[in-house]
Amino acid sequence: MKLSQDTISEIQSKLEIEEVVSDFVSLKRKGQNLWACCPFHHEKSPSFSVSPAKGIFKCFGCGKAGDSITFIMEIEGLGYVEALRHLAQKYGVEIEEEETTDARQEAFNEKESLFIVLNFAARYFQNLLRNSPEGKSIGLSYFRQRGFNEQIIEKFGLGYSLDEWDGLLKAARAEGYTEEMLEKAGLIIRKEDKNGGDRFYDRFRGRVIFPIHNLTGKPIAFGARILKPDKKQPKYLNSPETAVYHKSDVLYGISQAKQAIRSQENCYLVEGYTDVISLHLSGVQNVVASSGTSLTEGQINLIGRYANQITVLFDGDPAGLKASLRGIDMILAGGLHVKVVVFPEGEDPDSYSQKLGSTAFQAFLQENAQDFLTFKAALFAKEAANDPIKRADTVKEVVASIAKIPDPIERAVYIKECSRLLDIEEELLLKELNKLHRKKLEQESRKASRGGYSSSSQTQAPAPSSAEGPGDDSYYYEFPPDFQPDADQPPGFSPGGTRSAAPAATTMEEVVALQERESIRLLLNYGINKIEEEYHLYDYLLQEIEDIEFQTPVYQEILSTFKEKLAEGQVVDAQYYIREGSPEVKKLVAGLTVEKYDLSKVWKDRHNIHIPREEELLEKAVFQNVVRLKFRTVQRLIRQNMERLRTAAEEPEILELMQIHASLKSSEVELAKYLGIVVTK
Ligand code: UTP
Ligand code: MN
Repeated sequence: MKLSQDTISEIQSKLEIEEVVSDFVSLKRKGQNLWACCPFHHEKSPSFSVSPAKGIFKCFGCGKAGDSITFIMEIEGLGYVEALRHLAQKYGVEIEEEETTDARQEAFNEKESLFIVLNFAARYFQNLLRNSPEGKSIGLSYFRQRGFNEQIIEKFGLGYSLDEWDGLLKAARAEGYTEEMLEKAGLIIRKEDKNGGDRFYDRFRGRVIFPIHNLTGKPIAFGARILKPDKKQPKYLNSPETAVYHKSDVLYGISQAKQAIRSQENCYLVEGYTDVISLHLSGVQNVVASSGTSLTEGQINLIGRYANQITVLFDGDPAGLKASLRGIDMILAGGLHVKVVVFPEGEDPDSYSQKLGSTAFQAFLQENAQDFLTFKAALFAKEAANDPIKRADTVKEVVASIAKIPDPIERAVYIKECSRLLDIEEELLLKELNKLHRKKLEQESRKASRGGYSSSSQTQAPAPSSAEGPGDDSYYYEFPPDFQPDADQPPGFSPGGTRSAAPAATTMEEVVALQERESIRLLLNYGINKIEEEYHLYDYLLQEIEDIEFQTPVYQEILSTFKEKLAEGQVVDAQYYIREGSPEVKKLVAGLTVEKYDLSKVWKDRHNIHIPREEELLEKAVFQNVVRLKFRTVQRLIRQNMERLRTAAEEPEILELMQIHASLKSSEVELAKYLGIVVTK
């Protein structure tokens, strides 16, 4: 079956990219477009933009782009048809299917048919739990006894499988599902009989059923718990890997949790089905389980789409605890923040939440969440207190975790903190960290020489950093160093909206050049004006930009000449340059003097206020120019410094560069305050 063309057209006519996207990220309007932190990669400042006018999205950080349908396909991991169905549901479009000859079997790819048979099975199990005598007396009463209410049973689609060899098989056959499909879905098992023929039987028998859903809430697999104690049977049985169930990319509970994870900006991680459900019963909805295995990179990335913090809930079992710590390094490596909560010995999240009740349990989580690295350091410190050999191991253990953190500034903070906690000199920890870094670099360069390795080119977000509207000039917009306007975006789709009136400045260099030009313009046209008695505008300007070297040679030349002449006791003006300057300088300065009388007009147009005194305007203009010039210079230095940070290998150098970074960053923030710009931390 396929969607009818009418259905597809109707869905498309109702699509609002803004609405589709805002189910997943919170968009903020800046100019004509909307911005958010990209849901497809980790970032701290928004480079993901949505253009309602064009009906498209684009991330300038990771390059993902497309329309509403591609957005849903990407974020929900769906195929084209599935994405359309999903959107149809959202917009209440009635789906009209085009019947094909052999309805159920044909015209589906394998995945879609698996979704259908899995959905059938899920409903079959649910129905048995509620309506069959065996399901009610055994399954339902078991759930009740565990404290699961009707709502939660519905929310998680819990079910029951009859204690028979072919309960599901018979029901499915009756509905026309083939054994091949059922087997591919992991629902039945094939066995050869004595005569060499095939025999099939149900995988799940006499168990309560926990369906495992994908992001959109479709059942893709099942976990099944036995009810009567049986030494020969495992307590839980799970679906095998199938075309739609890749264990390593799936988290139990993600579809029920995703909105809460986003709004809480945190995801609790527990061990299994019952923990997830118990937490929901306690009013904690941002929780998922990795289902037995240790967390994989795919699972971490999945959580990372919704939040950048994971809080791991540990059973109070000291031996298991230490074994689990290693797995957490992978979360750190994914750039996520990690907290841990350790439960009292003998308790797991399931048992403890029931013991405490909702309110006390939620308070327990709040009060006991601690930073992972601090926790790890403290744990080892206690043990190693009087044992020098263990102490060395402790350093290695803790530093190994710190080394995984991608952000150098965060690493530095942790080195400091752990040095304090372990009472070990920072130097020593740094030395160890250094060693690990070198190892990693060596590995990477080996990989590189084998080919296939490309160094991660970190692009900076071109996000609008302005708190002002698009009516202001373009100076406020920042672009990544290699950003080419219109190079890989649809025409008219520019970050920050249209900016027609302002001089076109697209690269950082051009933005800086514009500010330099403005300094020269003010200096030559108004330098001689007095701000106070015996204090000229040029005095102020030159003093403020004393330690700034202009990046544009011709502006630097003009500035240097001005200073030289001033040292000789002469205040030169525009006329001087037009008379004495090189052809390039002549032309430029002539152009600048034309703009002399624009000042008040610009001021008026821009701010729609009545003109105050000319001098007052001038002071403001000069002040703004100076601050902006400094702001851009600081930003340029930050970029250069970051560049060096990226290539630095030795921790002492990294530390020094980070100190520079921190002080530049604080200057940037200071300057930004004057400009009314919000900068990212
Ligand atoms: P438990 O052993 O606590 O399961 O494992 P339970 O159903 O809560 O049993 P009781 O009532 O305490 O005895 C906790 C989680 O570990 C996973 C399940 O997800 C379960 O929810 N688990 C456990 C398995 O996947 N397989 C197993 O064999 C055991
Ligand atoms: Mn349990």
